[in-house]
Amino acid sequence: MHTPVSADETLYFCTPSRVLLAAGARHRVAALCAAQRWRCALIVTDRHFSGRTTVVDALVRSLAAEGLESLVFDGGEPDPSTELCDSATEELLARPGAARIDHVIALGGGSNIDLAKALCLTLPFRRPVASFVGTTRFPGSPLPMLAMPTTSGTGSEITPGAILLQHSSATKVAVMGNALRPAIAVIDPELTLSCPPKVTADAGLDALTHAIESYLTMDATRFDTGGDADPSYSGRNRLTTMFAREAITLCFTHLPRAYHVPDDLRARTGMAYASLFAAMSYASAGLNAVHGLAYALAGLTHASHGSTNAALLPYVMDALRPSRREELADIAAMAGVPRADSDAMARQASVRTRALVQELGVPADLAAFGVPERALDQLVHDGLAVTRLAKAYPQQPPEADYAAIVRRAYAGELSGIETP
Ligand SMILES: NC(=O)c1ccc[n+]([C@@H]2O[C@H](COP(=O)([O-])OP(=O)(O)OC[C@H]3O[C@@H](n4cnc5c(N)ncnc54)[C@H](O)[C@@H]3O)[C@@H](O)[C@H]2O)c1
Repeated sequence: MHTPVSADETLYFCTPSRVLLAAGARHRVAALCAAQRWRCALIVTDRHFSGRTTVVDALVRSLAAEGLESLVFDGGEPDPSTELCDSATEELLARPGAARIDHVIALGGGSNIDLAKALCLTLPFRRPVASFVGTTRFPGSPLPMLAMPTTSGTGSEITPGAILLQHSSATKVAVMGNALRPAIAVIDPELTLSCPPKVTADAGLDALTHAIESYLTMDATRFDTGGDADPSYSGRNRLTTMFAREAITLCFTHLPRAYHVPDDLRARTGMAYASLFAAMSYASAGLNAVHGLAYALAGLTHASHGSTNAALLPYVMDALRPSRREELADIAAMAGVPRADSDAMARQASVRTRALVQELGVPADLAAFGVPERALDQLVHDGLAVTRLAKAYPQQPPEADYAAIVRRAYAGELSGIETP
């Protein structure tokens, strides 16, 4: 879809300063760190990588060969919490050599990268991570970071946020600011070859959600940045939609094969590009109802981030037909739907998306997800409570749409499928 240029367009786009994507790219990390004149690394990972692979040992050895010191923290966990971050900070600060740490290397999925980002703040400023929630202004520069993702999905290696679980409030909180974007993203598709199918599906559907949700989100011209001169997210623009379109096509092309044939490096590479391009879009444009409602759904079910997004995505797409018909028709074409009139195509976009979600083992409606009907109102309420996402929903005000999305997602109703 070509959008004619208009005189009132606005574009604000933020990325990390360096991105390297190549099979075997992990072998270039030490030389890249040395080229920055960094001296002492903190490697943040989990016990899968330190115990069951040689990646961490090889990294430590290659850093030493370049003359760099390193410390390893391998206590990363899925969905890291503020409590984990604070106890890791305390443990690390007590280690000999902690004062020499001048950069952080994250190795793992979105969870380890988010923990590493949070440590970039808590180590130099020695404050609980919760004290950085709700502000994009930090007391000074966080430690610089190199992120090496091992899943293709979250895009955290280029985004401005760290998402952490807060056990005390049973919610996820975001530590956010452009200064938290990793300085370098090193994306090595070979690292994703060992992802089990469920991790591949969760992460890949997260990437598809980022791409579609940011392709359909509020325009930059309407986006409320709250007067922030350096906003993390500022609505969709010409550059974000370009990346989003490419990412959607890559997901429909490569995700099924990466899931069914895990050792296919070509499919893994396709998904590495999909994840990166999806993040290039959403990490400036921002997200809206899918993520807002998915956070609430995760609070209720404790299901994974990718699966909660995927369960809601088709229903949010369907609800956006009044304002995003041409974009949805475009998505249907990318998913392989034969050309027809744009209204029929738009209806098929969510149908095709749901078929992919189901193929990857995620339940297609909220009832199948195990959500009781009595919880639906609470889900709507909690989704709307994530106001930074609700205010970016392109059809304002969002209340009636959120309620309809949740009802239809519960019943599995899509307009492109005739109900009996
Ligand atoms: N900061 C952001 O911008 C952002 C964006 C989206 C999601 N997230 C967060 O990312 C998290 C989800 O990340 P994820 O989907 O990458 O999964 P994950 O990091 O939670 O990892 C899931 C599991 O897969 C394992 N794993 C990871 N890579 C593997 C590999 N190559 N081989 C074998 N096992 C592997 C991990 O050890 C872990 O047990 C959530 O907490 C979510 O909130 C953050």
